[in-house]
Amino acid sequence: MITISFRADCPAGARAIAVPVTAADAGELRLPSYLRQAEGVARAAAAGFTGDAGSIVEVHADIDGTIRRLILVGTGAGNDGDAERAGGALTARLLTSGETGVVVDASGFDAPRRAAFAASLAQAATLRSWRFDAYRTKLPAKSKPTLTAIEIVVGEQVQAAEQAWAPLSAVSEGVAFARALVTEPGNIIYPETFVERCRALEALGVTLEVLDEAAMRELGMGALLGVSQGSEREARVLALRYDGTAGAVEQPTVFVGKGVTFDTGGISLKPGPGMEDMKWDMGGAAAVAGALHGLAGRKAKVHVVGVCGLVENMPDGKAQRPGDVVTTMSGQTVEVLNTDAEGRLVLCDVITWVQSRFKPKTIVDLATLTGAMIVSLGHEHGGIFSNDDALADGLLSAGKAVGEKLWRFPLSEAYDKLIDSPIADMKNIGPREAGSITAAQFIARFVEEGVAWAHLDIAGMVWAAKPSHTYDKGATGYGVRLLDRFVTDRLEA
Ligand code: BES
Ligand code: MN
Ligand code: ZN
Repeated sequence: MITISFRADCPAGARAIAVPVTAADAGELRLPSYLRQAEGVARAAAAGFTGDAGSIVEVHADIDGTIRRLILVGTGAGNDGDAERAGGALTARLLTSGETGVVVDASGFDAPRRAAFAASLAQAATLRSWRFDAYRTKLPAKSKPTLTAIEIVVGEQVQAAEQAWAPLSAVSEGVAFARALVTEPGNIIYPETFVERCRALEALGVTLEVLDEAAMRELGMGALLGVSQGSEREARVLALRYDGTAGAVEQPTVFVGKGVTFDTGGISLKPGPGMEDMKWDMGGAAAVAGALHGLAGRKAKVHVVGVCGLVENMPDGKAQRPGDVVTTMSGQTVEVLNTDAEGRLVLCDVITWVQSRFKPKTIVDLATLTGAMIVSLGHEHGGIFSNDDALADGLLSAGKAVGEKLWRFPLSEAYDKLIDSPIADMKNIGPREAGSITAAQFIARFVEEGVAWAHLDIAGMVWAAKPSHTYDKGATGYGVRLLDRFVTDRLEA
């Protein structure tokens, strides 16, 4: 990721310079005084520039005797979302441009909002600059990132900007952590190595608790173990506990993530084309780990536990069969009609364990649970299902605030009935219709009375085919900022 710094004035020396311009100011462009020589060139190039957030005008101009790249970047109405669009667009433009640094002169921005504006711009810049080139040994020089630093000029607001930036920086690191886990292939990240990566969180004050398969057998997690039994890799349940309240808050809020490190479908094998996507079937678990990384990194005054159900879903001679009946930790039995509906089998046992182990009042689970979710919402919203309106509203508004949007779906007895089984307490699939809802109803059967629970089906959100202002193609880190904002608004406020 690029380095961010804030300064009072524009540093001397040849560098690219960017000037944020709001829609209101775009018509009559005025540049800071040290750019006066360049104003004519910039004005000519900016004919038609409306200052829309993220729009860019780029010129080369003489600034104090050196030719420099001068960029006008539109910031629309100048709110946080606009600042993100500007920061992301600027970074995308310069990332592999040959420029190693850019100065963003925000000193002309309204003083009371300048620090927040600069911090939001910085956050989008760090998020947009994240890439994963670890396995690209022959990357041509012109495709390599060159941009390493952004200096943001904020006049007398340096301290305020640094203060606004510190927590956002921690959250960006959490997002980066999640994206790396999601991007790594299934031969590198499997249950045990996922846990090993998360040991990095110990340095931030997070404590790890790990269940191996023997411990899970002892607890009676027959559904989770059934999924794992066709794999050579052992399953793990990983609990990441962060208590920033020094024991003052006894019952933690719990986040649960589906961590299927590779989903072949098992004996109900998936078709070959596109199966490689199922390396990111642990995107829920990655979001949970990334959120804990961010919360601990910014020293949030909250007590949160993130629990990842980590397994690999493989077909082999020991794999579970369609029709098998398994007994969950809750004692309820499940007829496994389709071994590819494995996420709910993992989550049900993790959720049962979490309730006995941590006694939470609130559980939020995140899972790439159903392809049907992508049919419903595409890649614009994650789906949310909840037994508690206040919890759902909190997550919906957090998602809106950070641009990780959610859309709420119904739960009801009529949907619940669709997963009754003639041979066991329930089956792990419903009919073809309402596939995301019956999956949520399955999980709901394991949530105990009095627990506020929300399930986020993020199947369409973990991986992007096209870039946005906060990510390139590939892993998005969806969920990390959403959970962080939810914690800020509902637990820290
Ligand atoms: N991990 C998949 C869901 C998924 C599919 C996520 C595509 C992202 C992209 C899940 O385990 C699965 O296979 N679900 C099945 C359920 C079905 C068998 C009831 C599905 O969606 O097809
Ligand atoms: Mn599956
Ligand atoms: Zn899956």
